[in-house]
Order: sequence, then C-alpha cells, then structure tokens
Amino acid sequence: MSSETMSSETTQSPGGHLAQGAWSSRLAFILAATGSAVGLGNIWKFPYITAENGGGAFVLIYLFCIALIGIPLMVAEVLVGRRGNSSPTESFQILAKNSGRSEKWGLVGTSGIIASFLILTFYSVIGGWAIAYLYYAASSGFTGSTVETIGKLFDELLADPMTMLGWHSLFMLLVATVVARGINRGIEKVVGVLMPAMFILLMVLVAYGFTTTGFQQSLQFLFQADFSKLSTEGILTALGHAFFTLSLGMSAMVAYGSYLPRHISIIQASVLVSILDTLVALMAGVAIFSIVFSNGLEPGQGPGLIFKTVPLAFGQITGGYLLGILFFFLLVFAAWSSAIALLEPPVERIMDKNISRPRAAFIGAGAAWLIGIACLLSFNYWDTFTLIGERSIFDSLDYLTANILLPLTGLGVAIFCGWIVKQSETRDELPNTTDSLYLLWRFLLRYIVPTLVLIVFINNL
Ligand code: PHE
Repeated sequence: MSSETMSSETTQSPGGHLAQGAWSSRLAFILAATGSAVGLGNIWKFPYITAENGGGAFVLIYLFCIALIGIPLMVAEVLVGRRGNSSPTESFQILAKNSGRSEKWGLVGTSGIIASFLILTFYSVIGGWAIAYLYYAASSGFTGSTVETIGKLFDELLADPMTMLGWHSLFMLLVATVVARGINRGIEKVVGVLMPAMFILLMVLVAYGFTTTGFQQSLQFLFQADFSKLSTEGILTALGHAFFTLSLGMSAMVAYGSYLPRHISIIQASVLVSILDTLVALMAGVAIFSIVFSNGLEPGQGPGLIFKTVPLAFGQITGGYLLGILFFFLLVFAAWSSAIALLEPPVERIMDKNISRPRAAFIGAGAAWLIGIACLLSFNYWDTFTLIGERSIFDSLDYLTANILLPLTGLGVAIFCGWIVKQSETRDELPNTTDSLYLLWRFLLRYIVPTLVLIVFINNL
C-alpha cells in the first residue's frame, strides 16, 4: 500500500483529490465500490421485492436493467469523478467548463449529494435494526420463537424510540469514524476486512442453504421466469432497484471515482463491481429462500422478510443460533460499508468549504443523525404525521429519494456525459477501451438510458 498521501488528506488542496490520497490499488477501489453497492439493498430489499413480484421474471428484468442502464451509468459517474478530480458538485462544474458549457451542471452533482445525504438518514435507522438483531441473535438466539413472538420482537423495537435511537447512534458513529479517517486510513482499511468477511459469511449461508430441502425450490423461485406474475409496477421496481443497488444517482460513484488513479480501467472496474453486486444479491436470495422454504414458511412477507421470517426460520433449525449470528453480521457489514459511501459525497462537498475531513465527517453524520431521529419517531410517536402523499417521514424520504431524486440525477448524469461533455473528453478518460465498446457505451448513455429512465420516472409519478 502506498502511504505517501496519507497525511495530507485532511483539507482540500489545488492538486485535487488525487493529490490528497488515491486508492492504493485497483483492488482497493473495487472493494470500496463493491462495499458501496452491496448493502441493505441486496440482502434486505432484493429478496423481498423479488418475492412480492413473483420471482424469476422480475429477476430477469432486473438483470436486464443492470446491464443496459446500471453499468453505463456507473461508468459515467466514475468517469465524471475521476476527470473532475474533485467533489461531485465541482467535478460536474469542471467537466462542463472544459466543454464550454454552463457551470450550472454542477447541480447534477449537488442533487446526487442531497440524495445520498437523505438516504443516509433512514439507512442508518435500518442499519441500527441490523445491529439490534445481531445483538438479539447473539444474546438469546431465536429458538422457540413463534410467528407471534417474532412479530412482536420487531414491532416492539419499532415502538421503542429510545432503543432505536441507541442503535441508530451507534451505527452512525461507526460510519462517521471511518469516513473521518479518510480514503486510505479509513475507508480502504475497513472495506478490506469487511468485504472478504462478507463473502465468506455469504458462502457459508449459501452452503447451508444447499443442504436444506428448500434449495431446489429457491432456485426455481429465483430463476424460473413466469411473466404472468410480472406487473408494470414490477418492472418499475426492478429499474429503481438497479439504481439503488449499484449506488447510482447519489454521487457516490462520482465521489469514489475522484480518488481513482488514471491507469485503472473504469469500464473493467464498473463491470466487475456490477457483477459482484448482482452475485451477492442472487446468493443472498438463494440462502434466504432456501431457509424460508425448507421451514415451510412463505417468502412474500414484504420488508419484514429478514427481520421476521428469517429469524423465525433460524429459531427452528439446528445450528440456527450460529447461522443467525453469521447472517446478522453479514447484514451489519453490508450496511456499514454502504453507509460509508453515502456519507462520502456530502463530506467531500463540505470539505470544499475548507473544512477538514474529520470535522466534515462529523458535521455530515451529525446532521443525518438528527433527521434520522425524525425517521425513527415516525414509527411511533409521530406515526400520524405525514409528508409526501400521506406517507410517514420515513416513507416520504424513501419515496423522495428512490422515486424522484435518483432517477432525475441518473437522467442528468446520462444527458451530461452523453450530450454535454465533449466526446473527446470522455474518450480520453477511457483509453484502454476499444472503439466499438466506447461507442456502445456512448450509444446506451445517449439514447437508451435517458429513454428508459424517463419512462420509469413518469410512470412512478
Ligand atoms: N447500494 C446500496 C444498497 O444496495 C445503497 C447505497 C446507495 C449505498 C448509494 C451507498 C450509496 O444497499
């Protein structure tokens, strides 16, 4: 690991982000970007939305969205970050200026930063649930649980703001501490441990799933496409999730890209990260559905799938105590490395104002923590208070980000990279790519991505 840049990471300098601290290797970047991508989206959300939308056909559409929209957009975001070599807002401004366009394009970066900040507020609340469940799993396990007791455990957690506040605070503190230490000494170090550990945990869980009677059924459920079960809404959900799971539209990849050394291929790295993210989602699906099916349970339980159905299953199987602990470790690790990536874009922006990284990290995390308190109160004391379209505070933030900010920012990124930035600029940033691959990327970004995203966006409204 190169450590030449470590000491000067704390404040902005004219040399841009690369001069302050670059990822020390290709692997470091891939692990960090995969850590960002693999999160609650893969382990909590993907399995339950797949179950809600009938299984295989939904998975197929989702894979399609990853390939056609997700990968081109990820390449675009990383490219903007690396070329701009600055915070997301400034990176967009710099690229616009270099192409003779208005600096107002910086707004695309800013809207991504706002999205990541707002997501962090409620992501941390769910991250807190994950730590709480790790604690439950380790202290008492779920043995002897019934549908009622397991439901009650979750409902009681949601009804208890003080307990949730404790876990939410702990989670946010873990996130802020890492970001405060910077790219090399913080993020890289932590993901270097979390990611391999996560893969091992996941393998163990899939291997266990393989030994159960539900394995066959889980494969059928995930990979047998029955299009009669897929609604238009399901297609929209698949696209929205492709964005969320690849961390797109939140400036996160722009922020990470700004520390990427020039010799690393953006396309290769993006494809690899997308494949790893998809693999994790599918493996988590196989593991979870095997366990659920082999215990005669139903997967279509919505968001409660991993906090109710899965613990219930762990309570019924031999070795369930240990498996439960492993599973919630996996969940906490996944959420942690993602939340780090959610905090990084706002922190880079705060650092633009000549504020040191540690201070910026605690300002950003502190603000998100405060709003997070409103989120957790919306499950109990404030549950009658509604914002956007009769939604609770928690649901409003989810809706505002996932259905409005992410697609809009994604659209902005595609139009910006495809139409606004000069072709020579983007070509120069993808030097070790063949002409045909470059042109394919540009074609997808100019025509396919904006069209599909617009269709989804309008339908969502
Ligand atoms: N990709 C993460 C997930 O699937 C969410 C996330 C988005 C994390 C943006 C970081 C930045 O859970």
